[in-house]
Amino acid sequence: MSWKTLDDMDLDGKVVLTRVDINVPMENGKVTDTTRIDRIVPTVKDILEKGGKPVLMAHFGRPKGKEVPEMSLQQVVPALEAALGVPVTFAENCIGGPAKIAVSKMEPGQVVLLENTRFHEGEEGNDDMFAAALAALGEVYCNDAFSAAHRAHASTEGIARLLPSCAGRLMQAELEALETALGNPQRPVVAVVGGAKVSTKLELLSNLIEKVDTLVIGGGMANTFLAAQGIDVGKSLAEHEMADTAREIVEKANSTGCTILLPSDVVVAREFKAGAENETVPADACPSDAMILDAGPATVVEIGEIFAQSKTLIWNGPLGAFEIAPFDAATVAAAKKAAELTQAGELVSVAGGGDTVAALNHAGAGDSFTYVSTAGGAFLEWMEGKTLPGVAALEG
Ligand code: 3PG
Ligand code: MG
Repeated sequence: MSWKTLDDMDLDGKVVLTRVDINVPMENGKVTDTTRIDRIVPTVKDILEKGGKPVLMAHFGRPKGKEVPEMSLQQVVPALEAALGVPVTFAENCIGGPAKIAVSKMEPGQVVLLENTRFHEGEEGNDDMFAAALAALGEVYCNDAFSAAHRAHASTEGIARLLPSCAGRLMQAELEALETALGNPQRPVVAVVGGAKVSTKLELLSNLIEKVDTLVIGGGMANTFLAAQGIDVGKSLAEHEMADTAREIVEKANSTGCTILLPSDVVVAREFKAGAENETVPADACPSDAMILDAGPATVVEIGEIFAQSKTLIWNGPLGAFEIAPFDAATVAAAKKAAELTQAGELVSVAGGGDTVAALNHAGAGDSFTYVSTAGGAFLEWMEGKTLPGVAALEG
């Protein structure tokens, strides 16, 4: 890791263009989950303490190069002020007059938030002129948006080539956690990969079987692997056309010495709904009119034993249909076990990616993991072994 951090930069009196990811969920004009906002606070505070002037750049939603009032970042200002405890001035355009005026009027201790960078086509196009217009506002670039680092956009990539650049505290923490979990982990390493489809996680599975000692496969994608072994999975969600691919993954795992753990027992139901009547059966005994909605208790015990024997856990995706009780049972039990081992100092546990955080929080286990990433797509791409443009640009 060859990028600079805030410690390496002279920020005194300088305008620090800081890319953050405050793409937070909102309902009726209110932020419903402030995690991403809370996690940028250390960076903004550090910049202020070092005498710098933080000017925050961010995207919100996917306005596709147009001004979409519902995607204005102005809505996020109250939540941002509450988290930071300092006044935040909003600039109605992220480049040009409004941005320049807001920046020029900054007093020490103040923070400026620029309007949604994606209101300009040049953002997603990583246009040189647009990146230059952003860069013209400041003297130092700080990227604290790990969760947007898989996008090669002007505010995440182009600008890093124009200004002295560094990683913010959250970016640092995310990269360090991933490095601990997968780059240079303490062994044995176990990965849990769940979720609906094999097809969306192919590259992830291929990369993980080269790196981890045990791969626990759960959720709908486990059904695809069971079906590929010739097991009748009834009406379960499964990608039967992926059977060859699933078998190839298993073969590759055999040759790399990675053990794949599939459910040995499953919870089946006739309807996909909360509280549906259900039964637990061996994984090869799903009735033809039923569907698998969760891993069974024997599988949970096996997973717990693997966790107990491992030193590092990396987790992406739920083990069952965790949104509808009681089919959240395996996910909740396994997450609790991981949390317990982590708290006992026996396991380093890192989780991330879309549904995963919601699933762990649902289990009440999120706070007890070693690290929970704020990233969805970026976490997955990093786990796939891909270079993230936003990170690479900091190294350049
Ligand atoms: C996210 O919410 O995952 C990040 O902010 C990236 O957003 P995007 O998928 O619209 O690029
Ligand atoms: Mg996304």
